[in-house]
Amino acid sequence: MLRKLLVTLLLFTLVSSEIPSLDKIEISLRRGLDEYISTGRKSEELTEVLKHLKFPELFRRTYKKDSINGLICTTCNVGASAIIKARRLGASKEVLVDVAIKLCVWFKIEPEFVCEATIKRQADTLFYIADNSPELTSNRFCSIFFQGNGCKDSKREEWTIEIPPKPLFSYKTQNVSKARPLKVLQITDIHYDPNYTLGSNAACDAPLCCQAGTKPLKPEDSAGMWGDYRGCDTSWNLTIASLEHIIATHKHLDYFYYTGDIVDHNVWETDISRNTEVITKVLRVFKTYFSSIPVFPILGNHEPHPVNLFSSDGVNNVSISTQWVFDVSAEEWKDWLPPETRDTILKGGYYTVLVRPGFRIIALNSNVCFTFNWWLVYDDVDPYDQLVWLVQVLLEAERNNETVHILSHVPSGDDTCLQNWGREYARIVNRFSDIIAAQFNGHTHKDENVIYFDHANPHRAISVAFNGASLTPYHDANPNYVIYHVDSQTYEVLDYDMWIFNLTDANLTPNQVPTWYKLYSFKSAYGVDSLKPNAMAKLARDIAGNRSLAEQYFRYKFRDGDAALQKGCDDKCHLSNICYMVTSYHGQTLHCDYLTEIWNSTENINMK
Ligand SMILES: *[C@@H]1O[C@H](CO)[C@@H](O)[C@H](O)[C@H]1NC(C)=O
Ligand SMILES: *[C@@H]1O[C@H](CO)[C@@H](O)[C@H](O)[C@H]1NC(C)=O
Ligand SMILES: *[C@@H]1O[C@H](CO)[C@@H](O)[C@H](O)[C@H]1NC(C)=O
Ligand SMILES: *[C@@H]1O[C@H](CO)[C@@H](O)[C@H](O)[C@H]1NC(C)=O
Ligand SMILES: *[C@@H]1O[C@H](CO)[C@@H](O)[C@H](O)[C@H]1NC(C)=O
Ligand SMILES: *[C@@H]1O[C@H](CO)[C@@H](O)[C@H](O)[C@H]1NC(C)=O
Ligand SMILES: *[C@@H]1O[C@H](CO)[C@@H](O)[C@H](O)[C@H]1NC(C)=O
Ligand SMILES: *[C@@H]1O[C@H](CO)[C@@H](O)[C@H](O)[C@H]1NC(C)=O
Ligand SMILES: [Zn+2]
Ligand SMILES: [Zn+2]
Repeated sequence: MLRKLLVTLLLFTLVSSEIPSLDKIEISLRRGLDEYISTGRKSEELTEVLKHLKFPELFRRTYKKDSINGLICTTCNVGASAIIKARRLGASKEVLVDVAIKLCVWFKIEPEFVCEATIKRQADTLFYIADNSPELTSNRFCSIFFQGNGCKDSKREEWTIEIPPKPLFSYKTQNVSKARPLKVLQITDIHYDPNYTLGSNAACDAPLCCQAGTKPLKPEDSAGMWGDYRGCDTSWNLTIASLEHIIATHKHLDYFYYTGDIVDHNVWETDISRNTEVITKVLRVFKTYFSSIPVFPILGNHEPHPVNLFSSDGVNNVSISTQWVFDVSAEEWKDWLPPETRDTILKGGYYTVLVRPGFRIIALNSNVCFTFNWWLVYDDVDPYDQLVWLVQVLLEAERNNETVHILSHVPSGDDTCLQNWGREYARIVNRFSDIIAAQFNGHTHKDENVIYFDHANPHRAISVAFNGASLTPYHDANPNYVIYHVDSQTYEVLDYDMWIFNLTDANLTPNQVPTWYKLYSFKSAYGVDSLKPNAMAKLARDIAGNRSLAEQYFRYKFRDGDAALQKGCDDKCHLSNICYMVTSYHGQTLHCDYLTEIWNSTENINMK
């Protein structure tokens, strides 16, 4: 009898701790939130359902848990609709900001002080958008914000960019030049942190560690002289040591591309004056070190305050407008760029320059497609008319027999680049692939390449975007920069050299500057004879069919960073690396599916 009772009790506990169905979660959460918003009382039902809703580090780039995507979309929809409904019924900003902070804390997304400071910084923008978008639905909000988690909005209106057809005759049959290739330096994602402190705590739970005033609990958690593989950014010492090394080592640099993200990952304490200070300090040190080299900078998503936000055209209220970041850029970039670039920089942070006869650089502000840019919820149709402008510039370049390099921070195929924008961008690349010799990205902090395929003939690879990875080690990587060898007539990338130093090693000798070395040159490292799109597409297939090659791609992605090597890369990780290579807009799965089949069908799986 007693035994039976115990078994029943045990069964009861087991059943009650089981995850409830999505429907049940939705009902409990909705009821609990409505009550909390109207009375400030946290019911038992709400407390109970919250036990199943924990999303730690949801917005960190490392977060990938496909299995709970349904839960994320449901939770987002319930939370957003409760807040939108309450706002429509007249709830005050204060009450709703408090609710949003509570949700962030209850879901364990970030520590409380990060939740509070971040949401307070973003609140005015969110309310502006909610109050000025009478049609706003939680589905619209969640389908953008959580695009990468598969959230959908059935009422979404797609937009397209008008692209004139190709001319009947194309003159693009130039041969590679016999002259010395150009040397192009790419540095990206410095994320300079003025508060990086030697000996501070490198193992914290905020989005940025190694901060002044913090103490490590264990000696191994102490921030090193040259950085840390955990959530830490770049000190001034590292910034200067890197630039010193570059100018001493590479005497004949023709151009320098800086592809965005100057400001550190302290996303919760940004403000206009702090960001401006950090941005101008770094740009001015570039002027000192590269006084005789043309520099082409673009914006990253970390430059604006509040972080990630680029306010829509025509939003003039100074308390929410991010126009200031364009003003600062126009001012600081003007030493490098002709005055004609000023108008588009002030309009949307983008520009074009004819660098020399026949060679044009187009510098984009692709941060507008970043799905954490709330302004997409307000109006996502070609922000700042940038893609329309891009088509005009490319048409003109085509007429003038020019060849183009495109600089763009966020890769168009990233699952955090709005699909509609990424797809239209990829269509434009498709149309003008004859004159786009190469694209250069940043943002992901990974040494990786994205191959674009002809939409009409998917066997044909047409363009490659090279990613400059990052100077910051954030996360798990060795700091790096890249030297591209670019043909002086076709402007195609002939090869590139990846330069790094071993961060573990450098920190062992804090009084010596890091020993930089060339980790690899692409052609010989991968045994390819060119970096043309079709050769890169073949390489992607080879990687999918050869685990040791995939391991090499993974190692190089993190530039041999000890932390990454320690974590390693399982099948899922390799497949995600491989798919990233062949995805030029979110949801384009054709080549990913094909390479996944190759991966799964070879003996890879057994070779582990
Ligand atoms: C600007 O926005 C802030 C924050 O939403 C608001 O308090 C203020 O009234 C707005 N100012 C104008 C002139 O609309
Ligand atoms: C390109 O090279 C080929 C073969 O080397 C030559 O026949 C052709 O004339 C060259 N074209 C131009 C435009 O120089
Ligand atoms: C950086 O450190 C200073 C001094 O320790 C401190 O006042 C400041 O709040 C810290 N944070 C930021 C974001 O500057
Ligand atoms: C920068 O280097 C100096 C020594 O040259 C050192 O005293 C200081 O702590 C370093 N600063 C940081 C933030 O690492
Ligand atoms: C472009 O090149 C073609 C072929 O070399 C030439 O006929 C045409 O005049 C050129 N156009 C311009 C604007 O230079
Ligand atoms: C980096 O340096 C450390 C310390 O010297 C060494 O243990 C480690 O193996 C090196 N990492 C690589 C990838 O060479
Ligand atoms: C797989 O790639 C490695 C290089 O990482 C190469 O040495 C090996 O020959 C390749 N194997 C096959 C079957 O192609
Ligand atoms: C390939 O293998 C992965 C990981 O083992 C698995 O998740 C996936 O479903 C497989 N895909 C196909 C198309 O076989
Ligand atoms: Zn970055
Ligand atoms: Zn970025």
